[in-house]
Amino acid sequence: MEQYTRDQLIEWDKKHFLHPTSSIKQQQSQGASFVFTEGKGIYLKDLDGRTVIDGMSSLWNVNIGHGRKELADAAHEQMTKLAYSSAFSTFSHEPAILLSKKMSSIAPGNLSTVFFTSGGSESNDSAIKLIRHYWRLKGKPERKKIISRKKAYHGVTSNATSATGIPEFWEVAGSLDQQILHADVPNCEYLDHKPPERGGTCECGERIRQLIEAEGPETIAAFLIEPIQGAGGLIFPSDGYMEQVRAICSEYEIILIADEVITGFGRTGKMFGMENWGIVPDVMTIAKGITSGYIPLGGVVLSEKIHKKMMELSTGTLFHGFTYSGHPTACAVALKNIEIIEQEGLIENSKTMGEHLLTGFESLAQKFDIVTKTRAKGLLGAFDLMPNGNQGENFPPELQVAVNVVAEAAEKGLICRSVTYDGVNTVVLAPPLTINESQIGDIIQILEDSITAVRLKLGI
Ligand SMILES: Cc1ncc(COP(=O)(O)O)c(C=O)c1O
Repeated sequence: MEQYTRDQLIEWDKKHFLHPTSSIKQQQSQGASFVFTEGKGIYLKDLDGRTVIDGMSSLWNVNIGHGRKELADAAHEQMTKLAYSSAFSTFSHEPAILLSKKMSSIAPGNLSTVFFTSGGSESNDSAIKLIRHYWRLKGKPERKKIISRKKAYHGVTSNATSATGIPEFWEVAGSLDQQILHADVPNCEYLDHKPPERGGTCECGERIRQLIEAEGPETIAAFLIEPIQGAGGLIFPSDGYMEQVRAICSEYEIILIADEVITGFGRTGKMFGMENWGIVPDVMTIAKGITSGYIPLGGVVLSEKIHKKMMELSTGTLFHGFTYSGHPTACAVALKNIEIIEQEGLIENSKTMGEHLLTGFESLAQKFDIVTKTRAKGLLGAFDLMPNGNQGENFPPELQVAVNVVAEAAEKGLICRSVTYDGVNTVVLAPPLTINESQIGDIIQILEDSITAVRLKLGI
């Protein structure tokens, strides 16, 4: 093994490693803020010996926490037996078959057939292609349009970038698929109209109907939604929205695709996010938590009805497949990961600990008038920072309030995430599902200390 110093590593990182979703300039001027070397449970350790709480489960994906030997053993066992073989055409192997069957048993309703990918972007890209193909097979090639939503994040491959509703991501793509449209965010309060009475009609849902009617329902292939919009600022749907979306999609025969890349595998206190509303989508995209990030894997889960129709109508080869679709080692790790989630009651823990997290956010809102809009479902939580509390007003962008709070928290031993699209300062948390109450207490204490420090520093 090559010998090197800490400073050499930092220099090589700058020179040779173009970081994903990063500021190239900042990376060059400041270097990596952390070079992580180890992980155990909810904690990460870096090259300088600092230990921090991984309050984001890294990229909302390390659901069962770091350092789980069982997953390493599952990979080792599978790699020693059959590390890789193809699943193209008529070839198959045990791990992919067993994982597809397992997915069919844990997915809501009759979602029963999986097309595997290596991550969330590939899953959304594949879902869009497969559904457009489905409509072509059904003799309706004009059903091409995909409705996504503003502030949605669906990844960075071609279709996924077009479906993403955050304009910053569009610039890199250069050109976008004009057949992918963006409806409003799913939250009435966010759109500045009154929240509906419980069970009442939500205006956001009505706006989708208007968009469909304006575009022509017979031109729309699918509606693609995150159950809770993650990277766009943790936007929860208004009461009644999901039920309305399901009804509208069924009425116009539009395929409802749920992007469960973040919300899947226990994150929201249910196995899948849509279960919080009792809604069964027609297609579900998955990744991240399926292996807790130990190895790349994703997938598109199709309903039995769609799969059957495709079987009936297809004539030749389905020309869509990745070398690593159904990678045996990744599937073996996923099977072990799901077993751990189930056996250790991590979905229930996510629900209970999520309640503690929310209580902690509420205590911060009591202490600081700038903390507002506290929200959480399972271990997916956030709050906004606004002057004078919930007045709908934002801090001047140059203050970078959320960025400062997150930087301060990192100094104090907690990794969390800031989102500041459209001037709204949001702090997001999504710790591993194995977290306990005392560790939630540590998170809240660090946030309290960080907000105190930032108020002093910025004079807010
Ligand atoms: C909801 C959602 N969909 C898709 C993706 C893209 O997944 P990946 O980065 O694995 O391609 C992400 C990534 O954060 C996501 O949050």
